[in-house]
Amino acid sequence: MNFLGLTILGTGHYLPEYIASNREYETFLDTSDEWIVTRTGMRERRIALDTPVWKMGEMAARKALDDAGVSPEEIDLILCTTVTGDFRYPSAACLIQGQLGAKNAFAMDIAAACAGSVYALDMARRYLATGDVKTILQISAEALSQTTDYTDRGTAILFGDGAGAAVLRGGDGLFASALFSAPDCGQNIHCAFPRRSLPFGGGTPAGEETGLTYMNGREVYKFATRAMPAAVQAACQRAGIGVEDLDYIIPHQANLRIIETAAKALKVPLEKICVNIQKYGNTSSASIMICLDESLREGRIKAGDRICMVGFGAGLTYGAVVMEYQSGK
Ligand code: COA
Repeated sequence: MNFLGLTILGTGHYLPEYIASNREYETFLDTSDEWIVTRTGMRERRIALDTPVWKMGEMAARKALDDAGVSPEEIDLILCTTVTGDFRYPSAACLIQGQLGAKNAFAMDIAAACAGSVYALDMARRYLATGDVKTILQISAEALSQTTDYTDRGTAILFGDGAGAAVLRGGDGLFASALFSAPDCGQNIHCAFPRRSLPFGGGTPAGEETGLTYMNGREVYKFATRAMPAAVQAACQRAGIGVEDLDYIIPHQANLRIIETAAKALKVPLEKICVNIQKYGNTSSASIMICLDESLREGRIKAGDRICMVGFGAGLTYGAVVMEYQSGK
């Protein structure tokens, strides 16, 4: 059978216990709670002091499997989005597969930065549409604290850690996606591994690769306020619906002002936008999945609702998925 849409059988998320409030940043940066709240909407974020990314992903995955009533053996494919994995290899997806005992699955990571979960939903739907793969575990797990420059007040206050997951099967509801990447803007946010010296000559450390995030906040801000509405409009157009037909939008949680500006451009009332940025900051690709899980558990999003998940991130990547929420329950 060819599936056109997605069924979200279950969702889950995991957040580390440690809470870093705006006040804590005041102790080591020239910043203030007032500045951070006004400019970003963030009040606190979670930091994974000792928990690796794969462990956060595993915990979120266990909750999603439990919510779905699906056993690890039933999973055919594990897609994990992360740009902050603990290992260059193996993938976080393979590590999580091993922990879960998902012995019938194959597993891989997707690196599309903060747009990762949207990219993964698109990919999941395509695998499910072929019928070869019946059940997918999608995980987004990130520890931005590992790449954040805590001496740079322009970026340090933005990022937090966490993971979200969903168990997916094919469905017959509405689904459309629109994905984009704009590498000409890629210099505005990046994080390079330090290079090492080689015994062959060459391979000299270039000196600029700190392993920490560099960001031109103003340029990313300008890009995001254009990219988010454009992606939502493109996905709605492909779905054959108007933006006004959406019940909820779950945006990447990067900055409340970006979210509000995008909502205004789309003429979508803020009541239709799911936001938890005040609690968790920017958790990169995990942010949409955490917010999706919270919105479902709160009973805000209900079966039959038309939802749109929209993200942007380093690359620069951006994109949106529009779908009718079906739980299969
Ligand atoms: N506390 C206090 N002051 C700060 C500060 C902080 N944490 N960070 C920056 N400032 C200062 C700047 O130094 C600047 O001071 P100056 O005018 O004396 O030079 C002033 O605030 C304004 O800086 P600016 O960069 O214009 O602020 P902004 O309103 O654009 O907000 C960001 C900065 C980073 C919050 C905002 O640009 C942003 O959110 N960009 C998008 C980032 C993003 O989404 N990244 C993730 C991509 S997935």
